[in-house]
Amino acid sequence: MEVVIVADAEAAGAIAAGIVERLLGTKPACVIGVATGSSPVITYRRLVEAFCAGRITFAGAHAVLLDEYVGLPADHPQRYRRFVHEQLVEHVDLPVEHVHAPDVDTQDLAEAGRRYEALLTELGGVDVQLLGIGSDGHVGFNEPGSSLRSRTRIKTLTAATRADNARFFANLDAVPRHVMTQGLATIGDARHLVLIACGVGKAPPIAAAVEGPLTASCPASILQLHPHVTVVIDEAAASGLTHAAYYRETHAGKPSWQHY
Ligand code: GLP
Repeated sequence: MEVVIVADAEAAGAIAAGIVERLLGTKPACVIGVATGSSPVITYRRLVEAFCAGRITFAGAHAVLLDEYVGLPADHPQRYRRFVHEQLVEHVDLPVEHVHAPDVDTQDLAEAGRRYEALLTELGGVDVQLLGIGSDGHVGFNEPGSSLRSRTRIKTLTAATRADNARFFANLDAVPRHVMTQGLATIGDARHLVLIACGVGKAPPIAAAVEGPLTASCPASILQLHPHVTVVIDEAAASGLTHAAYYRETHAGKPSWQHY
């Protein structure tokens, strides 16, 4: 796991966007795992800038969502598919039919989960998976207690996550209780995991995920099982890390030929 501590959210977004930009350059027909929430917003903005500057094209790429709320109408502003469209897809040349999300509008959500897993396999797997982290350590919407080998399925949100996300809704009651999310094993199948976290509120879950025990109580601790992880965090999010000095030293001495 590579932990990259940067000054602020702008710098974090630049690094994450640079990883996706490089992927698009080396593998134009790549599969990008897209996250929602506020953490990846700067990353998307940087990618849009790179596209507008003519440095990248998304024409051959696919985007796959990590998760989606269950029970919101398809045109609801908080649908994650809509979020990804507004933040990224509408501003670049990624074909709309290349944007994929679990089908939360069907009656058979278990079957929708299986179909999403099959789709990810058909696409050849996810090349780079962008991730945020919840204050309770969730990735995607895998709440504490999620099976470490879980696949795409329905989950019930914790009260903490619903309270965190209430800022995007009219009130707490409007926040859905159920979601569909890629499982922890699904996320772990991506070839490169890139987790972005900024602000002091992310310090406890980052410390637990990076340096705590591997446990379903902190779903993001599955990062420790993965051979290629980049955790990009600002100083505030790094403030709970015991080995921060080592991560800084490692990054400062990173060989020039070594990519993220
Ligand atoms: C949300 C999303 C996650 C996201 C996390 C953190 O509920 N399902 O994918 O990473 O919570 O959100 P934010 O980046 O806004 O702090």
